[in-house]
Amino acid sequence: VALDFSKIVKWLPTFWQGTLVTIALALMTVVLGSIIGLIATLMKQSRFKILRFIAKAYTQVVRGTPLLLQLFLWLYGFPIIGISLPALPFLGDILGSREFLTAVVALSINSGAYICELLRGGLQSIDKGQMEAGRSLGLSRAQTMRAIIIPQAVRVVLPGLGNEFIMMIKESSIVSVVGVFDVMYTYNIVKASTYSIFEPLIVVGIIYFLLTSALTALMNLLEKRMHVYD
Ligand code: ARG
Repeated sequence: VALDFSKIVKWLPTFWQGTLVTIALALMTVVLGSIIGLIATLMKQSRFKILRFIAKAYTQVVRGTPLLLQLFLWLYGFPIIGISLPALPFLGDILGSREFLTAVVALSINSGAYICELLRGGLQSIDKGQMEAGRSLGLSRAQTMRAIIIPQAVRVVLPGLGNEFIMMIKESSIVSVVGVFDVMYTYNIVKASTYSIFEPLIVVGIIYFLLTSALTALMNLLEKRMHVYD
């Protein structure tokens, strides 16, 4: 049994296309997930019980159910009760498709729950005395949060956020199941066109590995720059 990579060489642009979609998906997910996670973290610190309850229910449900199920819910379940995203054709065939946009929402909401916990750990790592110091200087709770606590917490959570990005590069492969043209999906395309199975899997694996390795290196550099371990 010989492997024949020559058959799949002309599919390199397809793999590349999928790679870009995976990067876009993971990046959008981590950015949106961070915003959602930050809101949820702040809600968990709120003095209003209802906000704390909503945030807690959100993180528990999201972290307690499979990502694949959540993706199916957003894509096939919620539309039945009238909750669905439209396609946005001006964003192109792939990025504007209902599947891609829904995947962004499902993954971001999933990631937000994990990021929420990450941020909460970061905030709790900042000494309580700093809030008291801010308050005694006449800053409001929110001002102290913004000016003093959050900037420090960011350094603490940065490695975790980098990790989440790497995680989403890999976990986002689940969207290939619903037909989003990411790197994992290119395996289906190339397999169907060349009847090769092993070779495209190797190529896809190498691409994921290169992406996560590059990201790890980038994160290490960034952490050094920010003196996270000072
Ligand atoms: N495979 C896990 C699941 O299905 C992955 C979730 C991880 N998500 C994250 N944002 N870290 O639930």
